[in-house]
Amino acid sequence: MPKRQRAPTNPLEVANRKTDDEFITDYLQPDAGNLPPGVQPWTTAWTHPKTGTEYTINLVRVENLSEPDFSACFQLIEQTSRTDYENSTAGWNAKKKTIEMKSPGLRYILVKEKDTAALEGFTSLMPTYEAGQPVIYCYEIHLQPSLQGQVTTGLAPLLINFHCTIATNLPPITKVMLTCFLANQRGLNFYSKLGFETDEISPVPRLLRYGKLFTPDYRILSKPVWAGGGEGAGAEAEAEGEGGERWGRGVGSSDSCWRCEGVGDGDGVRV
Ligand SMILES: CC(C)(COP(=O)(O)OP(=O)(O)OC[C@H]1O[C@@H](n2cnc3c(N)ncnc32)[C@H](O)[C@@H]1OP(=O)(O)O)[C@@H](O)C(=O)NCCC(=O)NCCS
Repeated sequence: MPKRQRAPTNPLEVANRKTDDEFITDYLQPDAGNLPPGVQPWTTAWTHPKTGTEYTINLVRVENLSEPDFSACFQLIEQTSRTDYENSTAGWNAKKKTIEMKSPGLRYILVKEKDTAALEGFTSLMPTYEAGQPVIYCYEIHLQPSLQGQVTTGLAPLLINFHCTIATNLPPITKVMLTCFLANQRGLNFYSKLGFETDEISPVPRLLRYGKLFTPDYRILSKPVWAGGGEGAGAEAEAEGEGGERWGRGVGSSDSCWRCEGVGDGDGVRV
Protein backbone atom coordinates (compact mmCIF):
# COMPACT_ATOMS: atom_id res chain seq x y z
CA MET A 1 0.00 0.00 0.00
CA PRO A 2 1.41 3.47 -0.82
CA LYS A 3 2.62 5.46 2.15
CA ARG A 4 0.04 7.96 3.33
CA GLN A 5 1.12 11.57 2.75
CA ARG A 6 1.69 13.26 6.09
CA ALA A 7 0.08 16.67 6.37
CA PRO A 8 2.74 19.24 7.32
CA THR A 9 2.62 20.47 10.90
CA ASN A 10 5.53 22.91 10.85
CA PRO A 11 3.99 26.39 10.47
CA LEU A 12 6.58 27.48 7.89
CA GLU A 13 6.05 24.38 5.83
CA VAL A 14 2.30 24.91 6.04
CA ALA A 15 2.77 28.53 4.90
CA ASN A 16 4.97 27.55 1.99
CA ARG A 17 2.38 25.09 0.71
CA LYS A 18 -0.46 27.61 0.68
CA THR A 19 -1.87 28.98 -2.54
CA ASP A 20 -1.28 32.67 -3.15
CA ASP A 21 -4.86 33.51 -2.17
CA GLU A 22 -4.56 31.54 1.07
CA PHE A 23 -1.18 33.12 1.79
CA ILE A 24 -2.65 36.61 1.40
CA THR A 25 -5.72 35.81 3.48
CA ASP A 26 -3.80 34.14 6.29
CA TYR A 27 -0.66 36.26 6.55
CA LEU A 28 -1.30 39.61 4.88
CA GLN A 29 -4.83 40.39 5.97
CA PRO A 30 -5.96 38.04 8.74
CA ASP A 31 -6.88 40.79 11.14
CA ALA A 32 -6.77 43.92 9.04
CA GLY A 33 -8.73 46.00 11.52
CA ASN A 34 -6.55 45.09 14.48
CA LEU A 35 -2.95 45.31 13.34
CA PRO A 36 -0.20 46.26 15.76
CA PRO A 37 1.31 49.73 15.33
CA GLY A 38 3.37 50.14 12.19
CA VAL A 39 2.09 46.99 10.51
CA GLN A 40 0.92 47.66 6.98
CA PRO A 41 -2.37 46.20 5.75
CA TRP A 42 -2.27 44.42 2.38
CA THR A 43 -3.32 46.42 -0.65
CA THR A 44 -3.50 45.65 -4.36
CA ALA A 45 -3.37 49.26 -5.51
CA TRP A 46 -0.98 52.14 -5.01
CA THR A 47 -1.06 55.68 -6.36
CA HIS A 48 2.06 57.78 -6.81
CA PRO A 49 1.58 60.72 -4.41
CA LYS A 50 3.05 63.24 -6.85
CA THR A 51 2.17 62.08 -10.36
CA GLY A 52 -1.15 60.39 -9.53
CA THR A 53 -0.10 57.41 -11.67
CA GLU A 54 -1.85 54.23 -10.58
CA TYR A 55 -0.11 50.93 -9.97
CA THR A 56 -1.28 47.41 -9.23
CA ILE A 57 0.27 45.18 -6.56
CA ASN A 58 0.11 41.40 -6.84
CA LEU A 59 1.53 38.49 -4.91
CA VAL A 60 2.46 35.44 -6.93
CA ARG A 61 4.54 32.41 -6.08
CA VAL A 62 7.39 31.69 -8.43
CA GLU A 63 5.75 28.58 -9.84
CA ASN A 64 2.92 30.82 -11.12
CA LEU A 65 5.12 33.68 -12.30
CA SER A 66 4.83 34.22 -16.06
CA GLU A 67 8.01 34.13 -18.10
CA PRO A 68 7.62 37.83 -19.11
CA ASP A 69 7.23 38.80 -15.44
CA PHE A 70 10.25 36.72 -14.49
CA SER A 71 12.31 38.37 -17.24
CA ALA A 72 11.18 41.82 -16.16
CA CYS A 73 12.26 41.10 -12.56
CA PHE A 74 15.59 39.73 -13.75
CA GLN A 75 16.23 42.76 -15.94
CA LEU A 76 15.39 45.11 -13.08
CA ILE A 77 17.93 43.40 -10.83
CA GLU A 78 20.48 43.62 -13.60
CA GLN A 79 19.72 47.30 -14.08
CA THR A 80 19.87 48.32 -10.41
CA SER A 81 22.43 45.94 -8.93
CA ARG A 82 24.63 44.23 -11.52
CA THR A 83 27.52 46.59 -10.74
CA ASP A 84 27.35 45.74 -7.04
CA TYR A 85 27.51 42.03 -7.90
CA GLU A 86 30.38 42.55 -10.31
CA ASN A 87 32.35 44.42 -7.68
CA SER A 88 31.72 41.71 -5.07
CA THR A 89 33.64 38.50 -4.46
CA ALA A 90 30.73 36.51 -5.89
CA GLY A 91 30.57 38.38 -9.18
CA TRP A 92 27.58 38.46 -11.52
CA ASN A 93 26.41 35.06 -12.71
CA ALA A 94 23.15 35.19 -14.65
CA LYS A 95 22.63 31.42 -14.57
CA LYS A 96 23.03 31.14 -10.82
CA LYS A 97 20.88 34.20 -10.26
CA THR A 98 18.14 32.65 -12.37
CA ILE A 99 18.27 29.43 -10.35
CA GLU A 100 18.11 31.38 -7.10
CA MET A 101 15.22 33.52 -8.35
CA LYS A 102 13.34 30.33 -9.18
CA SER A 103 13.79 28.82 -5.71
CA PRO A 104 10.68 26.70 -5.10
CA GLY A 105 8.14 28.48 -2.94
CA LEU A 106 9.58 31.98 -3.38
CA ARG A 107 6.77 34.58 -3.47
CA TYR A 108 7.00 37.71 -5.58
CA ILE A 109 5.15 40.95 -4.89
CA LEU A 110 4.98 42.73 -8.23
CA VAL A 111 4.30 46.44 -8.74
CA LYS A 112 3.07 47.29 -12.24
CA GLU A 113 1.88 50.48 -13.81
CA LYS A 114 -1.87 50.00 -14.19
CA ASP A 115 -2.20 51.37 -17.73
CA THR A 116 0.87 49.83 -19.33
CA ALA A 117 1.28 46.72 -17.11
CA ALA A 118 5.01 47.46 -17.11
CA LEU A 119 6.89 46.12 -14.10
CA GLU A 120 8.08 49.07 -12.01
CA GLY A 121 9.27 47.26 -8.90
CA PHE A 122 9.13 44.03 -6.96
CA THR A 123 10.18 42.28 -3.81
CA SER A 124 10.51 38.54 -3.16
CA LEU A 125 10.37 36.59 0.06
CA MET A 126 10.14 33.22 1.74
CA PRO A 127 9.32 32.03 5.25
CA THR A 128 12.35 29.91 6.11
CA TYR A 129 14.91 28.97 8.75
CA GLU A 130 18.18 30.84 8.74
CA ALA A 131 20.83 29.53 11.15
CA GLY A 132 18.00 27.89 13.09
CA GLN A 133 15.93 31.07 13.34
CA PRO A 134 12.47 31.19 11.78
CA VAL A 135 12.42 34.30 9.58
CA ILE A 136 10.82 35.95 6.59
CA TYR A 137 13.79 36.22 4.26
CA CYS A 138 13.58 39.13 1.87
CA TYR A 139 15.46 37.89 -1.20
CA GLU A 140 15.09 41.01 -3.31
CA ILE A 141 13.64 44.49 -3.38
CA HIS A 142 14.13 46.65 -6.47
CA LEU A 143 12.40 49.73 -7.78
CA GLN A 144 12.79 51.52 -11.09
CA PRO A 145 14.92 54.63 -10.43
CA SER A 146 11.90 56.86 -11.11
CA LEU A 147 10.12 55.31 -8.10
CA GLN A 148 13.06 55.47 -5.72
CA GLY A 149 13.18 58.06 -2.97
CA GLN A 150 11.01 57.71 0.10
CA VAL A 151 10.27 61.38 0.25
CA THR A 152 9.02 61.14 -3.32
CA THR A 153 7.01 57.95 -3.19
CA GLY A 154 7.02 55.78 -0.06
CA LEU A 155 6.70 52.67 -2.19
CA ALA A 156 9.81 50.88 -0.87
CA PRO A 157 8.72 51.15 2.80
CA LEU A 158 5.29 49.86 1.77
CA LEU A 159 6.87 46.77 0.25
CA ILE A 160 9.14 46.17 3.25
CA ASN A 161 6.15 46.54 5.53
CA PHE A 162 4.44 43.67 3.74
CA HIS A 163 7.33 41.47 4.85
CA CYS A 164 6.79 42.68 8.42
CA THR A 165 3.06 42.00 8.19
CA ILE A 166 3.66 38.43 7.07
CA ALA A 167 6.25 37.91 9.82
CA THR A 168 3.84 39.30 12.41
CA ASN A 169 1.09 36.93 11.33
CA LEU A 170 3.21 33.83 11.01
CA PRO A 171 4.44 32.60 14.39
CA PRO A 172 7.01 31.41 15.33
CA ILE A 173 8.62 33.96 12.99
CA THR A 174 9.81 37.03 14.88
CA LYS A 175 12.01 38.81 12.37
CA VAL A 176 12.50 39.88 8.78
CA MET A 177 15.99 39.19 7.45
CA LEU A 178 17.92 40.21 4.36
CA THR A 179 21.40 40.63 2.95
CA CYS A 180 22.85 43.87 1.62
CA PHE A 181 26.17 44.56 -0.07
CA LEU A 182 28.32 46.96 1.97
CA ALA A 183 28.86 48.88 -1.26
CA ASN A 184 25.13 49.59 -1.44
CA GLN A 185 25.12 52.64 0.81
CA ARG A 186 21.70 53.69 -0.34
CA GLY A 187 20.27 50.28 0.55
CA LEU A 188 21.98 50.30 3.96
CA ASN A 189 20.63 53.80 4.67
CA PHE A 190 17.17 52.72 3.65
CA TYR A 191 17.11 49.63 5.88
CA SER A 192 18.59 51.51 8.80
CA LYS A 193 15.83 54.12 8.54
CA LEU A 194 13.26 51.34 8.68
CA GLY A 195 14.74 49.86 11.86
CA PHE A 196 16.94 47.08 10.47
CA GLU A 197 20.13 46.29 12.35
CA THR A 198 23.08 43.99 11.81
CA ASP A 199 21.97 40.48 12.74
CA GLU A 200 24.01 38.36 15.12
CA ILE A 201 24.69 35.88 12.30
CA SER A 202 26.17 38.54 10.02
CA PRO A 203 29.75 37.49 9.20
CA VAL A 204 32.75 39.39 10.51
CA PRO A 205 36.30 39.40 9.10
CA ARG A 206 38.11 36.23 10.04
CA LEU A 207 41.23 34.28 9.31
CA LEU A 208 40.57 31.23 7.16
CA ARG A 209 42.65 28.14 6.68
CA TYR A 210 46.16 28.81 5.31
CA GLY A 211 46.08 32.31 6.78
CA LYS A 212 43.77 33.82 4.16
CA LEU A 213 41.70 36.71 5.52
CA PHE A 214 37.99 36.62 4.74
CA THR A 215 36.49 40.10 4.67
CA PRO A 216 32.75 40.02 4.02
CA ASP A 217 31.46 42.46 1.44
CA TYR A 218 27.88 42.12 2.61
CA ARG A 219 25.94 42.39 5.82
CA ILE A 220 23.00 40.38 7.12
CA LEU A 221 20.38 42.70 8.55
CA SER A 222 17.23 41.93 10.47
CA LYS A 223 14.30 43.64 12.04
CA PRO A 224 12.32 42.11 14.90
CA VAL A 225 8.55 42.21 14.60
CA TRP A 226 5.74 41.94 17.06
CA ALA A 227 5.35 38.23 17.76
CA GLY A 228 1.77 37.01 17.80
CA GLY A 229 2.70 33.38 18.43
CA GLY A 230 2.82 33.47 22.20
CA GLU A 231 5.61 32.49 24.51
CA GLY A 232 7.44 29.31 23.58
CA ALA A 233 6.04 29.14 20.07
CA GLY A 234 9.43 29.91 18.58
CA ALA A 235 11.43 27.20 20.26
CA GLU A 236 8.76 24.60 19.64
CA ALA A 237 8.42 25.20 15.95
CA GLU A 238 12.13 25.67 15.51
CA ALA A 239 12.76 22.22 16.95
CA GLU A 240 10.14 20.85 14.63
CA GLY A 241 11.66 22.65 11.70
CA GLU A 242 15.08 21.16 12.25
CA GLY A 243 13.85 17.71 11.37
CA GLY A 244 11.40 18.71 8.68
CA GLU A 245 11.58 20.13 5.24
CA ARG A 246 13.77 23.22 5.03
CA TRP A 247 12.32 25.56 2.54
CA GLY A 248 14.75 27.60 0.55
CA ARG A 249 17.54 25.07 0.94
CA GLY A 250 18.87 22.72 -1.64
CA VAL A 251 18.82 25.32 -4.37
CA GLY A 252 22.31 24.39 -5.36
CA SER A 253 25.28 26.69 -5.22
CA SER A 254 23.21 29.82 -5.40
CA ASP A 255 25.28 32.98 -5.35
CA SER A 256 22.33 34.64 -3.71
CA CYS A 257 22.98 38.22 -2.95
CA TRP A 258 20.12 38.36 -0.60
CA ARG A 259 20.02 34.90 0.82
CA CYS A 260 23.35 33.92 2.32
CA GLU A 261 23.93 30.33 3.23
CA GLY A 262 26.86 28.74 5.00
CA VAL A 263 27.58 31.90 6.91
CA GLY A 264 29.28 30.05 9.71
CA ASP A 265 31.88 28.21 7.74
CA GLY A 266 34.08 31.01 6.57
CA ASP A 267 35.06 29.92 3.12
CA GLY A 268 31.62 28.60 2.32
CA VAL A 269 30.10 32.07 2.26
CA ARG A 270 28.08 32.92 -0.79
CA VAL A 271 26.64 36.23 -1.70
C1 LIG B 1 16.83 50.03 -1.93
C2 LIG B 1 15.59 50.73 -2.45
C3 LIG B 1 14.47 49.73 -2.60
C4 LIG B 1 15.21 51.78 -1.41
O1 LIG B 1 14.14 52.51 -1.88
P1 LIG B 1 14.24 54.11 -1.95
O2 LIG B 1 12.91 54.60 -2.35
O3 LIG B 1 15.38 54.49 -2.79
O4 LIG B 1 14.55 54.42 -0.45
P2 LIG B 1 14.75 55.84 0.24
O5 LIG B 1 14.93 56.92 -0.75
O6 LIG B 1 13.68 55.96 1.23
O7 LIG B 1 16.05 55.61 1.10
C5 LIG B 1 17.27 55.71 0.58
C6 LIG B 1 18.09 56.53 1.52
O8 LIG B 1 19.37 56.60 0.95
C7 LIG B 1 19.64 57.98 0.62
N1 LIG B 1 20.32 57.99 -0.68
C8 LIG B 1 19.80 58.33 -1.86
N2 LIG B 1 20.76 58.19 -2.81
C9 LIG B 1 21.86 57.77 -2.19
C10 LIG B 1 23.16 57.44 -2.63
N3 LIG B 1 23.52 57.52 -3.91
N4 LIG B 1 24.06 57.03 -1.71
C11 LIG B 1 23.74 56.94 -0.42
N5 LIG B 1 22.52 57.23 0.04
C12 LIG B 1 21.58 57.64 -0.83
C13 LIG B 1 18.34 58.66 0.53
O9 LIG B 1 18.57 60.03 0.73
C14 LIG B 1 17.60 57.99 1.62
O10 LIG B 1 17.97 58.49 2.91
P3 LIG B 1 17.24 59.79 3.56
O11 LIG B 1 15.76 59.53 3.54
O12 LIG B 1 17.79 59.81 4.95
O13 LIG B 1 17.60 60.94 2.74
C15 LIG B 1 15.83 51.42 -3.81
O14 LIG B 1 16.79 52.43 -3.66
C16 LIG B 1 16.26 50.46 -4.90
O15 LIG B 1 15.45 49.84 -5.57
N6 LIG B 1 17.58 50.36 -5.08
C17 LIG B 1 18.14 49.51 -6.11
C18 LIG B 1 18.07 48.03 -5.75
C19 LIG B 1 18.66 47.74 -4.40
O16 LIG B 1 19.72 48.24 -4.04
N7 LIG B 1 17.95 46.90 -3.66
C20 LIG B 1 18.33 46.53 -2.32
C21 LIG B 1 19.24 45.40 -2.32
S1 LIG B 1 19.71 44.94 -0.68
